[in-house]
Amino acid sequence: MNLIDGKKISQDIKDEIKEEVSSFKEANNRDVSLAVILVGDDSASKVYVKNKKKACEYTGIKSVSYELPAETKEEELLSLIDELNERSDIDGILVQLPLPKHMDENKVTLRISPEKDVDGFHPVNVGNLLIGNPGFLPCTPAGIIELLKRSGVSIDGKRCVIAGRSNIVGKPMSLLMLRENATVTVCHSHTKELKEICKRADILIAAIGKPRFFTRDYIKEGAVVIDVGMDRDAEGKLCGDCDFDDIKELCSYLTPVPGGVGPMTIAMLMKNCLFSAKMRVKK
Ligand code: GUN
Repeated sequence: MNLIDGKKISQDIKDEIKEEVSSFKEANNRDVSLAVILVGDDSASKVYVKNKKKACEYTGIKSVSYELPAETKEEELLSLIDELNERSDIDGILVQLPLPKHMDENKVTLRISPEKDVDGFHPVNVGNLLIGNPGFLPCTPAGIIELLKRSGVSIDGKRCVIAGRSNIVGKPMSLLMLRENATVTVCHSHTKELKEICKRADILIAAIGKPRFFTRDYIKEGAVVIDVGMDRDAEGKLCGDCDFDDIKELCSYLTPVPGGVGPMTIAMLMKNCLFSAKMRVKK
């Protein structure tokens, strides 16, 4: 089995972006900047936001941080977004999800200008992805494509099975795989014969959020397996959706958790910020 080292690949990407950000700043005499908004004190979200800001610092992207209390009114968040949409010195706006229960995530996502939507969650960007127009690609699925390409895995014509149909991972992943000419099957909680379907996959993307769910019974010999899970087992230990030790001998390529898909999400966010700045100077 070849271990796909997401940490190393994301580091390479961040190094490339760092160079490009530096040339961009010199050529345009301005920063590339990302506004990061965190509402409340979800501990996982805090870690993600910290890592995103750290990656900004590394790549030379200016991050502007807003930490709002959990009881912030939705209207206040929306007016902060309005203000950031208007500001010419802000290239990207990221609202860390999940939001506190009294806020409507759809409404908040819709409020971010599609031109600053570096998460790729706005329906305009989702629609552009669907029809194959340029736009912001959602970071986790885009990172997975990059992982596969940089590991030398060809996607064209392959049977790709995606387990999970979330708006953040499963659905956009299916569109990106289709764009790469894979034959795509999306499975979910109502899927019948999940084992049989997964067992036919040349490339399996595991994104259901259940600790160590995918055992060797689900894996074809020689399959490429991408584990998007960030789960906790009964002992509270971080693990993926795949039973790594059980399947590792069967796979031709496999991503670890942590150190697989996770770091790629952040690298692609940096890429989207740079892309945004480039598009905005062209206008
Ligand atoms: N919560 C979990 N993943 C993400 C992500 O990629 N972006 C944002 N904004 N929130 C998230």
